[in-house]
Amino acid sequence: MSSDPSAAVQRDASGRLRHLITLEGLSRAEITTLLDLAQSYVRPAGAFPARDRGLAGHTVANLFFEPSTRTRVSFELAAQRLGAEVVNLDMQSSSRVKGETVLDTIYTLQAMHADILVMRDAEPGLPAAIAQLVAPHVAILNAGEAHLSHPTQGLLDALTVRQHKGDFGALRVLIAGDIAHSRVARSAWQAFRTLGVAEMRIAAPKDLLPGKEEFAGASRYTDIDRAIEGVDVVMALRIQRERMGSARIPDEAGYHRTFGITPERLRQAARDALVMHPGPMNRDVEIASIVADGPQSVIQQQVANGVAVRMAVLTTIARNLRGEGSR
Ligand code: CP
Repeated sequence: MSSDPSAAVQRDASGRLRHLITLEGLSRAEITTLLDLAQSYVRPAGAFPARDRGLAGHTVANLFFEPSTRTRVSFELAAQRLGAEVVNLDMQSSSRVKGETVLDTIYTLQAMHADILVMRDAEPGLPAAIAQLVAPHVAILNAGEAHLSHPTQGLLDALTVRQHKGDFGALRVLIAGDIAHSRVARSAWQAFRTLGVAEMRIAAPKDLLPGKEEFAGASRYTDIDRAIEGVDVVMALRIQRERMGSARIPDEAGYHRTFGITPERLRQAARDALVMHPGPMNRDVEIASIVADGPQSVIQQQVANGVAVRMAVLTTIARNLRGEGSR
């Protein structure tokens, strides 16, 4: 049983996923089933993308109250390729700027028969709160919640690692950078932990490490040169300036020198280590440009997998809304 209240809120009375708010509480079998379905939507670069009609008759609304490129566009493409109608709310020209609440915006879309609402917001707990208030035929998909949760990012990270490494049981995974403010780190950790990664390491400058009550079981480092030794996966994270007080913002050159993933540091990882980054990157700050574009980088593959994973999540949630999915 998970201690995260969102884990219970996202399930229907039969235990099926009605919403997707967090990876906390998902079983290894549930995550593996989502990854298998996502893999079925992956196509080689240059091929026509996968399409089916699994969302025909559904209406997906994208509500991004924080900026996004990858997540918003990939949810839009995923929904279109599954045959849904898609609405992208432009927050700058929506009635939110006239003072309408998020909930009233959601009720307005619900009244227009939007039934899958994809939301990103800076307020912790908002997706779970909204999920408890929408109509029974409406699902909430969390596309980024404060520093807490970004479940589809965690799934696409796991899919990318699985495509290269297969079994998770022998892997040493390092997540490095601004862990304290990162929803990507939390969701990736939840996915990797559930999938049975052998060793999880988190590394950050002292001020950017989370409290000890989080990331239980992961080894914690403030020295990147020690943290990176021998790992099979290196995931670099952006400094989340938008979530920290100005006093804590490190200077970029100094950060790169003391904590950036450079070619010299990468040589201390396993020879075939994967280099990952969820994007957007600050080149030559948390990761050297030459590493981000180098032969070990799977960053563009992460982006491609984002569409496949969101197709899998949309298909699964739509089936469950229709009462067709299995527990
Ligand atoms: N990784 C990620 O969430 O990127 P965007 O902010 O561009 O959606």
